[in-house]
Amino acid sequence: EQIEKGGYEHFMLKEIYEQPNVIKDTYRGRLSSTTGIIKMAGIEDNIEKFLQADRILIVACGTSWHAGLVAEYIIEEFTRIPVEVEYASEFRYRNPIVNQKDVVIAISQSGETADTLAAIKLAKEKGAFVFGVCNVVGSSISRETHAGAYTHAGPEIGVASTKAFTTQITVLTLIALRLAKAKGTLSKSDFFRYLNELELIPDKVQEALQTNDEVEKIAKIIKDTNNSLYLGRGYNFPVALEGALKLKEISYIHAEGYPAAEMKHGPIALIDEHMPVIVIAPKQGHYDKVVSNIQEIKSRSGKIIAVVTKGDTQVKALADHVIEIPETSDALSPLLTTIPLQLLSYHIAVLRGCNVDQPRNLAKSVTVE
Ligand code: G6P
Repeated sequence: EQIEKGGYEHFMLKEIYEQPNVIKDTYRGRLSSTTGIIKMAGIEDNIEKFLQADRILIVACGTSWHAGLVAEYIIEEFTRIPVEVEYASEFRYRNPIVNQKDVVIAISQSGETADTLAAIKLAKEKGAFVFGVCNVVGSSISRETHAGAYTHAGPEIGVASTKAFTTQITVLTLIALRLAKAKGTLSKSDFFRYLNELELIPDKVQEALQTNDEVEKIAKIIKDTNNSLYLGRGYNFPVALEGALKLKEISYIHAEGYPAAEMKHGPIALIDEHMPVIVIAPKQGHYDKVVSNIQEIKSRSGKIIAVVTKGDTQVKALADHVIEIPETSDALSPLLTTIPLQLLSYHIAVLRGCNVDQPRNLAKSVTVE
């Protein structure tokens, strides 16, 4: 097992550090930023289904559901195709409205999650075209779907999903770009800008991993908290949910993820000097709005930990701690902002003596209801 961990103390840490390589593996051979060609057999063979679809429905569970939420923002922005994201467990039991004009994308790391599998079967019965985004080759979901695209994350052993999440977002971004190209919904310059940006992501993830020591220091300061709040807007709202889920899963600290602006409709009541609030505030996107959310937290004495773009000054002046990550476009920022949040949960869990790779009550793949 020590050999499998490749010198890392835990599988989770190893998998966090594998992300620059596996993100590259996931887009390698599928995209050329010089010619603008994006090639994925499962998409090419079925592109008409996507182009004629009234909408795309995404079904998934857990972290894969969060990747689906990021994809909703990306696909709608790039392609203008309406997207809905559902928990597979809800979808399967509510007599959902699905028909032949729908494309369903099922996202699953393991390809074995019982609820996702059942949702796929139901969507097929109702005549939808079902596309899988799985990590495990030959898994039940990859066999049950009409077509699909694999993430090339390699085996993920840690129960808390890390590299599966970022590679799922990578595949879904490629799909969105391919569809945008076919539909002409992105300008040529934006299209190529995103391709180029995507190719820079692995190096930028590498740079984001260099926040590790800083993140560990912050972990030491907040490790004894009982509660925490994660806030983000736009593309980074799902990252807030994922950051909170990661912390809950492995450190057993109560964590809530919220859209930053929605805070005033509830969670703001929880904020006092004991409440760490982790705010995702990259320069792109709704920066000014997030800054005013940070001011609201500060005026209530919340402890602010902010993930910011390198060189930021405004948030730095307000926050108790900042974690700096490289700049990228708003749509691709989840691939970077999520990195320090993974590290933060990891270090807090280690400091609390938790079983990081096998947290209590959780399973890597949930094959029963
Ligand atoms: C379990 C795992 C999570 C995972 C979820 C969905 O809860 O612990 O890490 O996100 O199942 O799994 P899937 O394999 O379908 O992505």
